[in-house]
Amino acid sequence: MKAIVLEGPDKPLVFKEVDKPTLAPGEALVQIKAAALNRRDYWITVGKYAGIKYPTILGSDGAGVVVEVGDKADRHWIGQEVIINPGYGWGENDNFQSDDFKILGLPADGTFAEYVKVQARHLHHKPAHLDWEHAAAIPLAALTTYRALFTKGKAKKGDKVLITGVGGGTGVFALQLAKAAGCHVFVTSGSGDKIERARQLGASAGVNYKAQDWAEQLLQLAGGFDVIIDSALGDGFAKLPDLCNPGGRIVIFGGTAGNIPPLNGRKIFWRQLQIIGTMMGSPDDFKAMLELVNKHKIIPVIDEVFPLANADKAVKKMENSSQFGKIVLRA
Ligand SMILES: NC(=O)c1ccc[n+]([C@@H]2O[C@H](COP(=O)([O-])OP(=O)(O)OC[C@H]3O[C@@H](n4cnc5c(N)ncnc54)[C@H](OP(=O)(O)O)[C@@H]3O)[C@@H](O)[C@H]2O)c1
Repeated sequence: MKAIVLEGPDKPLVFKEVDKPTLAPGEALVQIKAAALNRRDYWITVGKYAGIKYPTILGSDGAGVVVEVGDKADRHWIGQEVIINPGYGWGENDNFQSDDFKILGLPADGTFAEYVKVQARHLHHKPAHLDWEHAAAIPLAALTTYRALFTKGKAKKGDKVLITGVGGGTGVFALQLAKAAGCHVFVTSGSGDKIERARQLGASAGVNYKAQDWAEQLLQLAGGFDVIIDSALGDGFAKLPDLCNPGGRIVIFGGTAGNIPPLNGRKIFWRQLQIIGTMMGSPDDFKAMLELVNKHKIIPVIDEVFPLANADKAVKKMENSSQFGKIVLRA
């Protein structure tokens, strides 16, 4: 089969022939119709990710058709149109993942290939209202933002929610999921054009995080926030506690812009704020996320679709965050 392979540090991604996977009991072979990128794929190609091994077939997000299974008990999956939950080995505790937690696409070979071997219990039916490209865009980003918003952030109808850096794959999903749940959503972005696009998707308002007074502008527009979803960290994070309503929750799952700067701890305890870490999501989060996507017929926002063979160009596009929404590969 053909696959996109990362062969070593500082080596370009290559589109090459590799062995088709063989199955063990409990596994399934999915013929990939479309795959999608996450910033994780970019971090791995530039060597900034823990546990990188070579060669690796990247890709955590995929949609396709099940063509083989390793167990008779899973035969009902054959011919089914599926998406894959890429979070393996979550474990027993809903509050955090186990030490065995792994993400499809490193260490196990991922979805940037004609076929991917997955654990059958990670298969889910493709939402019927979505084509292959839009279905492939869902798994990792929607799972992460679902858990950040609802399982950890406890966002509910009527809450004011701030999504920082809305333009990314997770940012746009966070906006769509929060709107579906009846929240009032405000955004930040480094681009006025992306703020406008976020408004078209239902954001109440947005400000540019490059403006000196972006936090003051937000306070004027929104008052304060019950939940803030942030995957940037960096210098701007210092302002987030000021933007919270009393009891507000700041949920974090990435550090695109750096680390957490010094914070005024007194503001955090006096106003009983919470800074909460989260990581992708549990199997229950995945099911609940899919239910929300199906119920509200959410259509993921795709920035651009590249042929699988051009995955290198697709990953390159992530370098300067010019995308709005997900970057997708068509197999
Ligand atoms: N822990 C987990 O489970 C998990 C899961 C998914 C993602 N992540 C992490 O979360 C982050 C986002 O992932 P992604 O896939 O959405 O990445 P992405 O598509 O590359 O988006 C990154 C976005 O970050 C925003 N940004 C950049 N600098 C910023 C700043 N100074 N302040 C605020 N926003 C800024 C940009 O928004 P604008 O374009 O609007 O300016 C950009 O579009 C990454 O660091 C990723 O590794 C973690």
